[in-house]
Amino acid sequence: MAEMEGLEFGKSDFVLLDEVTMEEFMENLKLRFEKGRIYTYIGEVVVSMNPYREMDIYGKDTIDAYRGRELYENPPHLFAVSDAAYKAMKRRAKDTCIVISGESGAGKTEASKYIMQYIAAITNPSQRAEVESVKNVLLKSNCVLEAFGNAKTNRNDNSSRFGKYMDINFNFNGDPTGGHINNYLLEKSRVVQQQEGERNFHSFYQLLRGGSNDSFHLQSDPSVYVYTKEGSTSTTSNNDHASHKAVMNALEVIGFSKEEILSIYQILASILHLGNVPFESDGESVQVLDLESVNYISELTATDPDKVIKSLLYRTVATGGGEVIEKGHTEEEACFGRDAFSKALYERLFGWIVGRINNIIEVKDYNPVLHGKNTVIGVLDIYGFEIFDNNSFEQFCINYCNEKLQQLFIELILQQEQNEYNREGIQWQHIDYFDNQIIVDLVEQPHKGIISILDEACLTVGKVTDTMFLDSMDVKLAKHPHYSSRKLSPTDKTMDFQKHFRIRHYAGDVTYSVEGFLDKNRDLLFQDFKRLMYHSSNPVMKEMWPDGQLGITEVTKRPLTAANLFKNSIISLVDKLACKEPYYVRCIKPNELKSPLLFDDARCQHQVAYLGLLENVMVRRAGFAYRQPYARFLQRYKMTCEYTWPNHLMDSDRDAVEAIVKQHGFQNDVAYGHTKLFVRTPRSLFTLEQERAVLIPILVLFLQKVWRGALARMRCRRMRAIHTIMGCYKRYKVKAHFWEVEQRFTNVRNMADYGKSIEWPTPPAALTQFHTITVMLHRRWWARQMVKKIPPSDMLEIRAKVAALTALSGERKDCGLSRAWERDYLANVRDCPQSSSGFARFSRELRNKDEYSQVLFSGFCRKVNRFNKSTDRGVLVTDKCIYKLEPKKQYKVLKRIPLDNLTGLSVTSGVDQMVALHMSSQDDVLLCLQHGELFPDRDRVGELVGTLVDHFTRVKKTSLSVKVCPSTIRLHMRGKPKTVTVETKVGQANADFKKSKDGFVLWVPTN
Ligand SMILES: Nc1ncnc2c1ncn2[C@@H]1O[C@H](COP(=O)(O)OP(=O)(O)O)[C@@H](O)[C@H]1O
Ligand SMILES: [Mg+2]
Repeated sequence: MAEMEGLEFGKSDFVLLDEVTMEEFMENLKLRFEKGRIYTYIGEVVVSMNPYREMDIYGKDTIDAYRGRELYENPPHLFAVSDAAYKAMKRRAKDTCIVISGESGAGKTEASKYIMQYIAAITNPSQRAEVESVKNVLLKSNCVLEAFGNAKTNRNDNSSRFGKYMDINFNFNGDPTGGHINNYLLEKSRVVQQQEGERNFHSFYQLLRGGSNDSFHLQSDPSVYVYTKEGSTSTTSNNDHASHKAVMNALEVIGFSKEEILSIYQILASILHLGNVPFESDGESVQVLDLESVNYISELTATDPDKVIKSLLYRTVATGGGEVIEKGHTEEEACFGRDAFSKALYERLFGWIVGRINNIIEVKDYNPVLHGKNTVIGVLDIYGFEIFDNNSFEQFCINYCNEKLQQLFIELILQQEQNEYNREGIQWQHIDYFDNQIIVDLVEQPHKGIISILDEACLTVGKVTDTMFLDSMDVKLAKHPHYSSRKLSPTDKTMDFQKHFRIRHYAGDVTYSVEGFLDKNRDLLFQDFKRLMYHSSNPVMKEMWPDGQLGITEVTKRPLTAANLFKNSIISLVDKLACKEPYYVRCIKPNELKSPLLFDDARCQHQVAYLGLLENVMVRRAGFAYRQPYARFLQRYKMTCEYTWPNHLMDSDRDAVEAIVKQHGFQNDVAYGHTKLFVRTPRSLFTLEQERAVLIPILVLFLQKVWRGALARMRCRRMRAIHTIMGCYKRYKVKAHFWEVEQRFTNVRNMADYGKSIEWPTPPAALTQFHTITVMLHRRWWARQMVKKIPPSDMLEIRAKVAALTALSGERKDCGLSRAWERDYLANVRDCPQSSSGFARFSRELRNKDEYSQVLFSGFCRKVNRFNKSTDRGVLVTDKCIYKLEPKKQYKVLKRIPLDNLTGLSVTSGVDQMVALHMSSQDDVLLCLQHGELFPDRDRVGELVGTLVDHFTRVKKTSLSVKVCPSTIRLHMRGKPKTVTVETKVGQANADFKKSKDGFVLWVPTN
């Protein structure tokens, strides 16, 4: 946290100074510089000191510490403003710009690079390839632009000799989608001439020292070439050889084609050769001395060597009558023309490179409907205020540009601020600051300003000299408080007559030498060079010179002067910046020696003064860091106060905002304007932001809860409706079933089969049980109808059959149900025609004797006797006893077993006629029934079983267990367990028992 940075490092924000005086300001600045704290805030403005040494404060850890954090959470840093600009852009969809200002060597370009790196590092977390490639081009473009636009000056080894404003475009995601670079006033005079100790643009040295020079006919020693001679010996921190590689690589990465890259270096080589073209005059005409260079130039520029020579020595002019004549140059003109050509070649090359990069990174296929709002962060790195020993046209332009930017700063930071306080009716003590509008007017005012006077001089026909331009200014600007010259203040020996004029810039007095002003402003280039290059057979070069297309008679319009072009570009730059939310980085150079230790008080104080930093602190202190319309403030923070969440019931939004402020105890940190709330310290807002951040997830949960509740209620209502519908439908189905059953069965009494053939309708699920019961009911009723028709005499048989059916059905194959059950077969004439009368007699006697009332069953059978022998016997079952009879001895009773002894029966599931009668005495009777004449091949077992079971249940009221065994019957004889199996045997005439190992086998015949 900024506050946590110990006080031994000084104050991290100048706003916290005890007293706002220059002394305290400088003391703090110095203390922080000495402690290695190069950044300090004035509110949101970063004051940056050039450390002149590597600082370990730009690594990944630092980036992570600043990513997404508020300005005041960390010590002051470039990354913090970069993040603030990025957040403003992302959160509020605001276009923002970061204006970096300061004098040459103060660290602007380095700052802009760190800002770019930071933005590149925090964007595109998902690593999308197209975004990565845009970022790559944006980052790499720096390397190329620096090679061609930077040079070593006496102040800075890597001084930007052009102004740069770079827009980075972002999509709604906050990822960079493209960009655009504007370049301003390249110092092209450097191509042909440098001040003592300075170098030409880096690109020349990089080509000579790092390129493969054979194909360009170059020698690697820069001192061989006039244009690079001055800088050939100067030591610099630049490694030209390595840089060349890096630039080549960057060009490739950005997307320049092989041909394009070659053309770039061909142009550079041509310029170097051009500088070495010497002229000689024999008094009449001028000649090119060294044809070798010319040949190289023609080869490299793909132009005709004769035409190159001609363009260097002659100019085509149109006479008044429309005639075209060739006019030979003087030696001086030839040199001037050559140098102008070199400068123009370089300038157009630079412009073309920028244009090409723009082409590549321009946002393509952008559709706001599809891609959301396209927002922009602009980064301005433009030459700072310059005061040299000899200041010329370039310094004049540069310093004018700085005046314009200072105006913007005043406008945005000082003036707008104060105007707003007035407008909002906030108590406010006006801060005086120097408004440099008057200087801006001095330079750019139409008709009266220096640029106008200069243009006028350039347009005047006839011989006009730089001194005439000075005279003209001395007349027109004599009274201007910011203008002077030796003529106007003759006692001032720091200026020369006929040479110097002085402007009192906001940043200090600068004395300019008028020498070369007219030429530089006219920026004359003979048309012949343009046509020469337009006819180059190298398409890349041709593209750079479209204006060479016009013939000499077609060129009528005078081109705009350099000063005018520059003025226009700066005005459009200021317009571009003015519509964005500005963030400022104010760079200060601690000393002139590039020393990391030296803090030059006077130099620093001078910069602090002209950058208006003290005024900035005062306005900031008196003022308010944040302001927001009440409604917006409320919208953003209303959840932090119980009276305003979710909606307030107060008279106005202002009252509601007051409630929020009071709840948080900020009363003394705010002021209430007519439409906006003003918050003095960012900390208050930051606290609100923090609280908001804590509440948002809770609100999200709350909303989710409410919505989930609503969803659940909706679902519940739907379910209820479904149930109602289902209920109605079920009731309908039930009723429909009733109606259907009723309809189908309504006539059932009168039907022949009493409805047995009626198909029951399928019941709905709810009526399954009901259905089973009704079907049963109907069956019973139907059975009742059936039974009702049976005569009482048949009832006994029916009952026995039902009993047999119940006891055996499903298990025994045949129960003999389809025939009449005669019961007393031994007494039946039809069954036993020979013996029945005898048996009838016998049974009458037995009946009298034993007093039974009913014969349940009688018949012949095979029986196993106590010696395990099988014999023919008669069996008689009455309601009292079971008799074993000897048919051969007039049915003598061999054994009488009371019926009460009978406990159960066992039969097989087959068609055999074997029955085991189980006795309570464990001495069971095993027999196999035999047929008489009646139904000789029908089953009698069923009849015996049915009759006995019926008798037991109906008369004796006890149950008789009947066991149906698949093949083996188990029984006891005289207490011993035996098993009986049934087996078929070929050749067996009648069923008969045979003893087996553990009982008996009943052999039955195959049929
Ligand atoms: N943040 C920094 N850390 C280390 N060195 C710096 C820093 N800023 C500037 N410098 C040094 O100062 C020199 C000049 O900086 P530069 O950004 O080119 O100045 P300007 O663009 O303002 O003219 C750089 O070459 C570098 O050596
Ligand atoms: Mg720079």
